Amino acid sequence: MSETASSKYLVTGGAGYVGGVAAAHLLEAGHEVVVLDDLTTGFREGLPRGASFVHGRIQDAARYLDPSFDAVLHFAASSQVGESVANPGKYWDNNVGGTLALLTAMRAAGVGKLVFSSTAATYGDPGQGALTETSATAPTNPYGASKLAVDHMIAGECAAHGLAAVSLRYFNVAGAYGELGERHDPETHLIPLVLQVALGQRESVSVFGEDYPTPDGTCVRDYIHVADLARAHLCALRVATPGEHLVCNLGNGGGFTVREVIETVRKVTGREIPEIVAPRRPGDPAVLVASTRTARERLGWTPTRSDLTGMVTDAWNFARRNASS
Ligand code: UFG
Repeated sequence: MSETASSKYLVTGGAGYVGGVAAAHLLEAGHEVVVLDDLTTGFREGLPRGASFVHGRIQDAARYLDPSFDAVLHFAASSQVGESVANPGKYWDNNVGGTLALLTAMRAAGVGKLVFSSTAATYGDPGQGALTETSATAPTNPYGASKLAVDHMIAGECAAHGLAAVSLRYFNVAGAYGELGERHDPETHLIPLVLQVALGQRESVSVFGEDYPTPDGTCVRDYIHVADLARAHLCALRVATPGEHLVCNLGNGGGFTVREVIETVRKVTGREIPEIVAPRRPGDPAVLVASTRTARERLGWTPTRSDLTGMVTDAWNFARRNASS
């Protein structure tokens, strides 16, 4: 079916940050969206206007899927690296077990298209240089391992049953889109944490290690605007081909150090941001930067909003609104 016509999509995890922004883009393109979310980490306020909502688990997807759906966009997952080290079973259960149930339900309902939220954490600690989709996968934590296992499951489903699937490997997502932005409890991500310091909600930010082999000794990450990322999902729906599992990195193609991010927050907010040097965080690779070649060639996608100042400005406006509401 052509994605230019109005289609009906199941969006798992659509009450979360990335799922919510992607659902908003689908709705703006004139599609029908049903969000399936158990609200363990998502928020009702994170639901985009116009989406139907089902409060439920992906493990029970068979109850909610029927042949009227054109595709599934699968965002729902446990996604904290640290938690996955402490409680790996939760990651195998939610991410792998939950997705197995979802794939089985899709097959039973005859829903033949999937876009999956995979992650750069599948690559592990790759050293310097931009990561391509053929770079070695050697995850350093159960979160990345569970997402890689799902990628393998999806590949099997494509080969055996003709599923059309795209796994999008996100790098570091940032920024906000309208009323929708990043909120986790507890917060562990760099940009929202630094913004909490700017808002006076936290005294200082810890810099996890300054002895990495990078320009200023702090880790380099590839930050991508959440709206750019969301747009890539619509491209993925268009190019998904029965029997093919396309794996595609989604990043900006360039990296920023932790200190560059903190400095940008200082400039954007005009606030003081005290920083404390802390030990390295276990499992953190020194550099994670995406090659954007596959995304450009296969999805016809290029990032347009992923300059760091713009991303931090959007995140700052969202954080301020949220703090005062
Ligand atoms: N950092 C700090 N201080 C903090 C928080 C983070 O110095 O208080 C550093 C981290 O050590 C890292 C960088 O800031 O070097 C970014 O850390 P985030 O926690 O914001 O993001 P990660 O790069 O660890 O992880 C993100 C996603 C994961 C995904 C991964 C893949 O959160 O889900 O990208 O690249 F797996």
